[in-house]
Amino acid sequence: MSDETTTLEKSVPQPRDSAPGEPLLEVKGLTKHFPIFGGFPIKRKVGAVKAVDGLDLAVHAGESFGLVGESGCGKSTTGRLITRLQEPTDGRILYRGKDITHANRKQLMPVRSEIQMIFQDPYSSLNPRQTVGTIIGGPMEINGINPPGGREKRIRELLETVGLNPEHYNRFPHEFSGGQRQRIGVARALALEPKLIVADEPVSALDVSIQAQVVNLLQKVKREMGIAFLFIAHDLAVVRHFSERVAVMYLGKIVEVGDRDSIYNRPRHPYTHALLSAVPEASVEEIEGEGRERIRLAGDVPSPVNPPSGCRFRTRCWKAQDKCATEEPPLVQIGGNRDGHLTACHFPEDPTTVRDEAVILDPALASLETSHTDD
Ligand SMILES: Nc1ncnc2c1ncn2[C@@H]1O[C@H](COP(=O)(O)OP(=O)(O)OP(=O)(O)O)[C@@H](O)[C@H]1O
Ligand code: SF4
Ligand SMILES: [Mg+2]
Repeated sequence: MSDETTTLEKSVPQPRDSAPGEPLLEVKGLTKHFPIFGGFPIKRKVGAVKAVDGLDLAVHAGESFGLVGESGCGKSTTGRLITRLQEPTDGRILYRGKDITHANRKQLMPVRSEIQMIFQDPYSSLNPRQTVGTIIGGPMEINGINPPGGREKRIRELLETVGLNPEHYNRFPHEFSGGQRQRIGVARALALEPKLIVADEPVSALDVSIQAQVVNLLQKVKREMGIAFLFIAHDLAVVRHFSERVAVMYLGKIVEVGDRDSIYNRPRHPYTHALLSAVPEASVEEIEGEGRERIRLAGDVPSPVNPPSGCRFRTRCWKAQDKCATEEPPLVQIGGNRDGHLTACHFPEDPTTVRDEAVILDPALASLETSHTDD
């Protein structure tokens, strides 16, 4: 990893053009309902999986925006809607102010190169029958891009950029480790010099020590190439090291969003507290002698086919009251929150509630924090 800075500097593109204050990506009321069909002999729609249910978010040029939540809450669907791999049921997606919600293939062409995706599984996301050179060159081929000096030269530079040997150009994915394969995935995403990368659990399939190396690589890419990230993860620990702003998602909705310090040190939503606590089951207990609380979150996330009325978290919330079943709490800036820190809860936690920092930090990831304290 030590020579990454040098190799990255060689291929740093010019700073990105973006109107000051204007978000690179803006999502308003984004909704995806997957229809469920039943009946015989004539099949008809009998319900819907409400995977994403009215999401608002904005990602600014060069920033990393983290999206966190338990399995099935709609994170990947959100990523696929934004990259237009799936068609939204409702809502709007604006990229640099331009509405791309229902843009057709031709209209999407210039945007496709600017928004790239990195997938969770470095094994299945690479074609085993293609060489690394073909895989990384694929996006250039599809978009008819011929960089100065030719595609092969550019691909070799990209291999070097992501910390791989350019001589491995002709090798196949099975000749690489999981971490190296994910680096190939990063190189492919960088091939078209994107402005935004949607990274869907890019390190979840890797060992923690390798996770730290890949997160480190993404940090460098972000800083030195000015690329913005929508960084999707199921726990808050990885996002903490990478994202300046974080949104917490539950059953298709954002329940809390704010800058990193607000989310990790002054969370107000009970679900954020639960995620920040390492222990699973539904009660609150004090850590002996320290006056700190640990939250045990019980049960599974309810079905997105029939989400609970009012607040969707109420079936697992230890603070739930009658109002929570009848009134959906709006995502707003409640008293005591900093600017931009929004919480959707009728009975939020006190902003001074102390948490146990040590619970969420893995030593390998924690070491990143000391090397990136200026983020
Ligand atoms: N193509 C589909 N058809 C029907 N339901 C779907 C489809 N894709 C996703 N879903 C459902 O939508 C919900 C959200 O799925 P999604 O993959 O977005 O969750 P996730 O937050 O990424 O979960 P994980 O952490 O497990 O990756 C789930 O209930 C899932 O079963
Ligand atoms: S609105 Fe009610 S149920 Fe929902 S998180 Fe807040 S206290 Fe819990
Ligand atoms: Mg997912």
